[in-house]
Amino acid sequence: MEPNIIILRTPPYQTKDFRKDIFKVNKACFRYNEYRFTEESFAKTLAEKETTFHLAMDKNKHKIIGYMITSEFRLPNRSKYLYLYQIAVHPKYRNLRIGRQLFDLFITEGKRLKINIFRLHAINPAVVSMCDSKGFKKIKFFKQYIGKNNCTLFELRLK
Ligand SMILES: CC(C)(COP(=O)(O)OP(=O)(O)OC[C@H]1O[C@@H](n2cnc3c(N)ncnc32)[C@H](O)[C@@H]1OP(=O)(O)O)[C@@H](O)C(=O)NCCC(=O)NCCS
Repeated sequence: MEPNIIILRTPPYQTKDFRKDIFKVNKACFRYNEYRFTEESFAKTLAEKETTFHLAMDKNKHKIIGYMITSEFRLPNRSKYLYLYQIAVHPKYRNLRIGRQLFDLFITEGKRLKINIFRLHAINPAVVSMCDSKGFKKIKFFKQYIGKNNCTLFELRLK
């Protein structure tokens, strides 16, 4: 059966209800400790009021198969920016444009919050491709940033 995907922007109490699924996706997607949730780090993330979860759900199976976490921060000049902390789609659901839909909501979320600066660290080629397509600029390059991966800090400034 074709997956029937919906994406929800979830408040912490609702996100918590999907904890098990989110952990499964997190574990299937990330090998590095920096990205792996522990009970403690997940609870801390949920408690941060500047942090938002978007969850991608397979409606036929009523389970979460992807998510995106964004958070508000400030630059040294006090301007706010929205940071994409994690984006993940379960390997069984890849290449179905779910990551792209989540990424589009990164920009939508910034507009909702009246934030026009967006940042993220990208190590993944699909994320780099999504940044390029939205006009993100490369700000800084880090060699062997996480694990053995090179990483680029991307930024988008909307007028
Ligand atoms: C990154 C990730 C979320 C993409 O999810 P996805 O649902 O498979 O992505 P999509 O099908 O929406 O594809 C998004 C874009 O990336 C491109 N893409 C996908 N895989 C790619 C690859 N290996 N190399 C280059 N581009 C790729 C697609 O062509 C698409 O581009 P387009 O929209 O211009 O056509 C998924 O690969 C993932 O969870 N990876 C592991 C976790 C991770 O590394 N997250 C990023 C760090 S936080």
